[in-house]
Amino acid sequence: MVAGWEWDDTLFAGTAPYYRRGRLPYAPGLAETLAEVLRLDGRGRLVDVGCGPGTLALDLAHLFGEVVGVDPDREMVAEAGREASRRGVTAKTRWVRARAEELPADLGTFTVATFGQSFHWMDRDLVAAATRDLLRPGGALVHVSDLKTGTPAVGGLPYPAVPGAAIQELIGRYLGPVRRAGRGVLPQGTPGGEAAVLARAGFSGPRRQVVPGGQPLERTADDVVAEVFSMSFSAPHLFGPRRDAFEADLRRLLREASGPGLFSARLPGTEVFVWGKDASAP
Ligand SMILES: C[S@@+](CC[C@H](N)C(=O)[O-])C[C@H]1O[C@@H](n2cnc3c(N)ncnc32)[C@H](O)[C@@H]1O
Repeated sequence: MVAGWEWDDTLFAGTAPYYRRGRLPYAPGLAETLAEVLRLDGRGRLVDVGCGPGTLALDLAHLFGEVVGVDPDREMVAEAGREASRRGVTAKTRWVRARAEELPADLGTFTVATFGQSFHWMDRDLVAAATRDLLRPGGALVHVSDLKTGTPAVGGLPYPAVPGAAIQELIGRYLGPVRRAGRGVLPQGTPGGEAAVLARAGFSGPRRQVVPGGQPLERTADDVVAEVFSMSFSAPHLFGPRRDAFEADLRRLLREASGPGLFSARLPGTEVFVWGKDASAP
């Protein structure tokens, strides 16, 4: 993946209980956009690779006849199963604990494969080729992520912005200046340039769609704490015995930034790249 860094199964350890509360949702309208672009009619099969707690898979489940979510993190897969049950879609969903690099052979073929902010964690050439084999001719690989345009301004909203720089500084004081990831570090962050990888694997495209964000949000201090513990670079296990001390310091920082413990934010837009597998491909 990245020179000098090796994937290990602690990458998202302990983040699952914080994920749904902490992470901002994808922009509303994402499902409608994908339904239109991919001409989804409720009958195809979706595989969501690196599904986390089912974020994307469950928001798209009504557009497919069957949905398979794949993630190596045991708690993520369990959380996805619980949320599927809460949403009444257990019958059409299956959750598989596996790395994308080691997909079981019995998954069948799919009309669509989605990667929601997960592809950069994978052996991308290997996974792109494996995904192409999983897709039916004419199928699509969809790469979904928050639109990276910096943090949207909160001017005119009632509360201060989440003090992101101060939070990063606090994380650095506990975990060191270099970005942590599982048992290793990622000085240069995760790789970009997935277009070259997907083109190399024989996909055509991409078609780019942006689902606009900007909607105002109110975030409590608990939401912000959950967001911090949902991140691979500040996952709970990284703090070891100092986890509670870190949380206490984080909450103090948040109280100092906003007396009522409330923050304003805006939803990021969602960027989607749709890659195709030729209808005539084997
Ligand atoms: C940032 S989360 C994204 C979760 C969800 N897709 C979403 O859109 O919110 C990244 C997920 O990718 C998973 N992941 C990391 N490496 C992976 C790999 N090699 N194969 C499959 N999933 C992986 C992690 O366990 C984590 O749940």
